[in-house]
Amino acid sequence: MKILAIETSCDDTGVAVLKIQSSKTEILSNIVSSQVKLHEKYGGIYPFLAKREHQKNLPPVLKKAFRQVQDKQKFEKPDLIAVTVGPGLEPCLWTGINFAIELAKKMNLPLVPVNHIEAHILANFIGKNSKSQIPNPKNIFPAVCLVVSGGHTQLILMKNIGKYQILGETRDDAAGECFDKVARILGLSYPGGPEVAKKAAKYNIRNKKYHIELPRPMIYQKNYDFSFSGLKTAVLYDFKSQRPRIRKSEEYIREMCFEIQQAAIDVLIHKTLKAAKSFKAKVIILGGGVAANKELRKQLRKKIEKEMPHAVYYMPERKYCTDNALMAAVTAYYHQKEKTKNWKKIRANANLKIGGYL
Ligand code: KG4
Ligand code: ZN
Repeated sequence: MKILAIETSCDDTGVAVLKIQSSKTEILSNIVSSQVKLHEKYGGIYPFLAKREHQKNLPPVLKKAFRQVQDKQKFEKPDLIAVTVGPGLEPCLWTGINFAIELAKKMNLPLVPVNHIEAHILANFIGKNSKSQIPNPKNIFPAVCLVVSGGHTQLILMKNIGKYQILGETRDDAAGECFDKVARILGLSYPGGPEVAKKAAKYNIRNKKYHIELPRPMIYQKNYDFSFSGLKTAVLYDFKSQRPRIRKSEEYIREMCFEIQQAAIDVLIHKTLKAAKSFKAKVIILGGGVAANKELRKQLRKKIEKEMPHAVYYMPERKYCTDNALMAAVTAYYHQKEKTKNWKKIRANANLKIGGYL
């Protein structure tokens, strides 16, 4: 079967075509058109600006995706269309949905609505290379998933594909959002996560000069919730307390980036391991844009190997951590039964939840 997928939940316009035959996957195309340049100017995303960009980008991105398919094989009609319906920015989600409905009508194809958070989790099943096996997961549950992105930070108990329970989530800013805001304070470009990571990687702890100590919000609280807005405020206070020359210095920026990244990682890993132990998770799954962070991946891996040596961990390939349509295609594969030609049923839901609350 071939799945055409459309992803427009935030500021990336994604179109992908995934072929799955006797459980072998083949990525026929995966195009992501980023709006970074546009949003960089404003230091954040304006939903209506992003919507306009998606409207402009979708037709050429689709064309490019189809061309990529044709470079590999004779073009054949897909079997279904996957489209992200939430959570995300409502005007952006509607743009993708309307585009998908139009295509589905033209090509007489069913649609499968996709939950963006679930897609971040199932990005782990995309496959290591372009031709690999799609897993039929059976012995991996219960799994504990940490989804960390620009819009979300959630700990989720996964009982099966499609069966989820939210254990905890951020009460204010998401971890990625925190990196984006801190980067803006420090004069770094958007999106902030990769910029903070780059500066942190250049920091040498032996050259510690400013002795910055940021809080680890909610780390020892009993629940599985997070809070990152205080971290951003702490950065702002420290930044403002420094002389202008220091604020701009590479030494200060590197030390601050190192500390902010470590503060977020400490909290994320502590709570993930706590949840994994309490719920006797067989597998720990990471997902979302912040999952591309090399330090988070390294430290989480180390901690699991030390404290839960019998647990297995999944981390998506770094290129599939940030928003893309391929992960929506994989999700639709596991949810084929939900396909519909009743277009009215496909609606955007900015606050769509995954599973229920615990
Ligand atoms: O999943 P995603 O592409 O979009 C949402 O669904 O929100 O995540 C984007 C977020 C941004 O906040 C970005 O700063 C962060 O992921 N991010 C990173 C890295 N790459 C992207 N954060 C830390 N380290 C990275 N390497
Ligand atoms: Zn996302």
